[in-house]
Amino acid sequence: MKTRFLVIAAAVMIGFYAGCDTQIMGIKFGKGTNMNISKESFGKTPDDKLVDLYTLTNGNDMTVKITNYGGIITNLMVPDRDGKIDDVVLGFDTLEEYLAGHPYFGAIAGRYANRIAKGKFTLDGVEYNLAVNNGENHLHGGIVGFDKVVWTAVPGKARSDRVMLTLTYLSKDGEEGYPGNLNCTVVYELTADNELKITYKATTDKATVLNLTNHSYFNLAGQASGDILGHVLTLNANYFTPVDEGLIPTGQLDSVRGTVFDFTSPHTIGERLNDVPMTGGYDHNFCLNSQDGSLAWCATVYEPETGRVLEIETTQPGVQFYTGNFLDGSNKGKGTTYNKHNGFCLETQHWPDSPNKPHFPSAVLEPGRTYDEVTIFKFSTK
Ligand code: BGC
Repeated sequence: MKTRFLVIAAAVMIGFYAGCDTQIMGIKFGKGTNMNISKESFGKTPDDKLVDLYTLTNGNDMTVKITNYGGIITNLMVPDRDGKIDDVVLGFDTLEEYLAGHPYFGAIAGRYANRIAKGKFTLDGVEYNLAVNNGENHLHGGIVGFDKVVWTAVPGKARSDRVMLTLTYLSKDGEEGYPGNLNCTVVYELTADNELKITYKATTDKATVLNLTNHSYFNLAGQASGDILGHVLTLNANYFTPVDEGLIPTGQLDSVRGTVFDFTSPHTIGERLNDVPMTGGYDHNFCLNSQDGSLAWCATVYEPETGRVLEIETTQPGVQFYTGNFLDGSNKGKGTTYNKHNGFCLETQHWPDSPNKPHFPSAVLEPGRTYDEVTIFKFSTK
């Protein structure tokens, strides 16, 4: 009896210190292990670059698949409150479908995520002209943004509490009109606590502007389950940046209080969506209440049918809340068709058009400095 107690106590201690699974006499202690990363071929680009698909798994039924084409998260498998696992991001099964064009499903958006008015900005007295790819404006890095390039991928060694994939990309001076050779690193980590952590780092050899985000479209009821209007959203934002017809911020900061933009207490996404002026749904930057660059709570989304909860923390000063207003049925996804409002994005980032808005948080990166931002997507149920 005494020996049995000592064995169990030792197992608990080992599990505790290693942060890992310990299975003794059918009793499970500590957190899930089974951390794993595997790689398979995903095909090649028209210019013959080989593309891979990486699968990261943890011991808690969470799996994320990431391709080094655009750093795209293609699948994100998450359990619901009954343990049923479903894919909660929009996307495709094949590289060909991504190559055929899509609205940034799961991709890394950059060099500047979201819009820069008329594709122009001035830095240190020099005017730069960027690729114009959205009406008269520049969107998500231009014609060939970071979502359409092949990143170099290095899988990390799985640890007891996390598994990671590191992606790097050198964006050359002049690419899409941006100044400076920019060395970018994006690290995707899946943890034993069902977190997907994304770390973005970059350095440049000439002053430039930079805004990196991940453009996943979530549907916490499952990617094939229709609209996201019943999801309940809370945002840590007392202000937002209103936009003009081209979705460029007017430069004002408006209080959300008493408006359809007030998610400081929980509201379903659909409740006031038809009253959002102009944009056919939400497509706005929210100014996060934490502006000091520390990792802070950004948003919580709850899906009542499945009980899935997504909590987001970020170091960024803003989040673009987009309700898939331009999804029009033309993208046939993973065994389904994506229609208007079938997914929502919460793109943590600097505010749109900051390079032309000196009173917005600066998105300038100078040589000798390191761009360093973190966003965590944490999944649970209730
Ligand atoms: C933008 C939308 C755009 C979507 C897909 C979002 O980040 O705010 O206006 O349609 O990305 O490109």
